[in-house]
Amino acid sequence: MTTKTLILHATENDHRTSLKEAAAIIRRGGLVAFPTETVYGLGADALNAKAVQAIFEAKGRPADNPLIVHVASKQQCSELARNIPEKAFALMDEFWSGPLTLILDRTEIVPDVTTGGLDTVALRMPDNEIALGLIRASGKPLAAPSANLSGKPSPTNARHVIEDLSGRIDAVIDGGSVKVGLESTVVDMTPAVPAILRPGEISREDIEKVIGAVIIGYEDKIHPESTVVRSPGMKYTHYAPDAAVTLIEGEHEMVISRIQELLGNSPSRQVRIGLLLTDESNKMIRHADQLALGSKDRPGEIALNLFSGLRYMDSKGVDLILVDGSFSHLGIGAAVSNRIRKAAGTIIKV
Ligand code: TXA
Ligand code: MG
Repeated sequence: MTTKTLILHATENDHRTSLKEAAAIIRRGGLVAFPTETVYGLGADALNAKAVQAIFEAKGRPADNPLIVHVASKQQCSELARNIPEKAFALMDEFWSGPLTLILDRTEIVPDVTTGGLDTVALRMPDNEIALGLIRASGKPLAAPSANLSGKPSPTNARHVIEDLSGRIDAVIDGGSVKVGLESTVVDMTPAVPAILRPGEISREDIEKVIGAVIIGYEDKIHPESTVVRSPGMKYTHYAPDAAVTLIEGEHEMVISRIQELLGNSPSRQVRIGLLLTDESNKMIRHADQLALGSKDRPGEIALNLFSGLRYMDSKGVDLILVDGSFSHLGIGAAVSNRIRKAAGTIIKV
């Protein structure tokens, strides 16, 4: 499968010509990567089974891992989902457009390939004018997973998309860098007590303020007793770099000294180590391959830089990536921790 991938440029204020071209590609069953507020998505007409099938092929994605369908309005949900509970409408009112995906019973119009054969569908209205404009201009709901090769970190700018998918997709809309950097929060609204299947910028506390108690339905390597894996995507290693990833969690000073100890113990010529650090640790450590992701007290900064940091370390060809886990786990910090734990082969608590 080789196609010449068209690069279209757009901003949230100026996107008309690019969207016209991109929408034409979507209508004829093609694949277009586009920015959202979370990460870049790889879009196709969600109701065209052949087009959706091509997404799985371009990404090398397992067929049983369902896709999120992106809409441009709440009204558009009614053709895709039924039995929508009151709690789901309450969450839409509060958080859409925004990084929240809701799992609902699907209608017959949604093809099996889009939902991985499930009788539910994942819906989300992104907070990005280019994404919303593309949905409106094409007149189609867009099935769109993150626009990376399966197993790579999600793309946070158009360059990452091109690195992974150039020649495999019809076009990418370059709309600059994303705002959040981690994928949306996924909530299953079909049980009486909804379950968070994937943490994101919209936290458990944010959700519980609106609809009351929810269940945590994603795997946490540290507390395996609290796990129920129900989102098919959560059983795959999302990111397994060539390098091994070790996460060091704990209080800031303790994490720094453990990282220094690990650096001191390793025969540098045999094992090349890369460090992904908080700003605070970055000032305390001197090493060849190190990158500061953001302040430990502002996990939103770390969220924004994590995936590009992992890609950067891959490009450096290091053997082992040590990740400083001393950042705050509040708010989006819980989601940052979840993504790193999923990539990590080893988690050290100090
Ligand atoms: O922020 C995001 O959510 C980005 C942007 C592009 O919107 N999209 C994204 O898609 O992260 P993807 O395919 O990489 O992740 C979708 C997640 C997977 O874990 C998948 O298993 C889950 O949502 N999912 C989709 N449909 C589902 C369903 N019907 N039931 C349970 N989980 C579902
Ligand atoms: Mg993904």
